[in-house]
Amino acid sequence: MQLVVETVDLTKTYDNTTVVNKLNLSIEEGDIFGFLGPNGAGKTTTILMLLGLTEPTSGVARICGYNSTREPLKVKSISGYVPERIGFYEDLTARHNLIYTGRLNALSEETIRKRVDESLDIVGLSEAANQRVQEFSRGMKQRLAIADILIKQPKVAFLDEPTSGIDPEGVKEMLDLIAKIAREQKMTVILSSHQLHQVQQICNRVGILAKGQMVVEGPLDQLGREAFGGGRFRVELQLAETTAALVDCIKRIEGVLSVERSGDLLLVSCLEDLRPQIARAIVDKGGLLIQMKIQSYALEDIYMKYFTEV
Ligand SMILES: Nc1ncnc2c1ncn2[C@@H]1O[C@H](COP(=O)(O)OP(=O)(O)OP(=O)(O)O)[C@@H](O)[C@H]1O
Ligand SMILES: [Mg+2]
Repeated sequence: MQLVVETVDLTKTYDNTTVVNKLNLSIEEGDIFGFLGPNGAGKTTTILMLLGLTEPTSGVARICGYNSTREPLKVKSISGYVPERIGFYEDLTARHNLIYTGRLNALSEETIRKRVDESLDIVGLSEAANQRVQEFSRGMKQRLAIADILIKQPKVAFLDEPTSGIDPEGVKEMLDLIAKIAREQKMTVILSSHQLHQVQQICNRVGILAKGQMVVEGPLDQLGREAFGGGRFRVELQLAETTAALVDCIKRIEGVLSVERSGDLLLVSCLEDLRPQIARAIVDKGGLLIQMKIQSYALEDIYMKYFTEV
């Protein structure tokens, strides 16, 4: 399968400081990839190299097989980019800004008209179409930036901190919008952020960058298991009496990976939230459940784990 985004030992050095260090990334079609890392980790620099906007010091960046350094025009034609600092012509209307983008991309006037209306509709800005961008809130500008990349229907979109500076409700709407577009337009999305709890809601893969190096990368579920050597969820339960037969019947539930005793608690590691199945198994065996709670391994835990070790 053709990778949409690929880097091989991608490296960028500014004045003897290596800010991206031998990065190897593989992102497949349809992925929503959460590119995580603290301030200064090298996320934006990596995105700029992928888009052919800055040259790597060494290594290779490719988009859909095209070399970002040698074929930057080809790469730009299939990539959408929402930069950290969005820029529009403030004194033009939302519609005119999008028309301008369409013309820059050499689309026909008919295609432009159609796509501008569609894009404004998708991001929920149809009613503000004829308003000048200077009157837009930050959240509206972010949505206009998403509409702007939809004009050229890219195969891949790079969104650099698309939720920064918007309120919690706006963040949720923005994330839902990104997930919907990725699904409906079959667009691969790379989303950079340091707000972990946000990206984990929509990303299927994540990579955590620290000081220019990828410290962990992969599907969310797998990372949870690797990082903690167990399931993605841990159910803690207390029984009136813990018998070997009860432990055994919990172990036999599909999706349960392990059952351990810890004092008078049982710790069940599992792939999904199996509380109803566990409760039923205990009751069916004549056991008495005193309490049960679940803990999920959020990306934040993974992030914290890796960052305390770096
Ligand atoms: N043009 C430049 N010249 C010199 N150093 C630079 C340049 N651009 C970035 N850097 C440095 O490279 C490092 C990585 O920066 P980058 O902007 O890629 O990080 P980031 O992960 O996007 O951070 P943030 O979350 O703050 O956006 C930083 O230390 C930054 O100061
Ligand atoms: Mg950045």
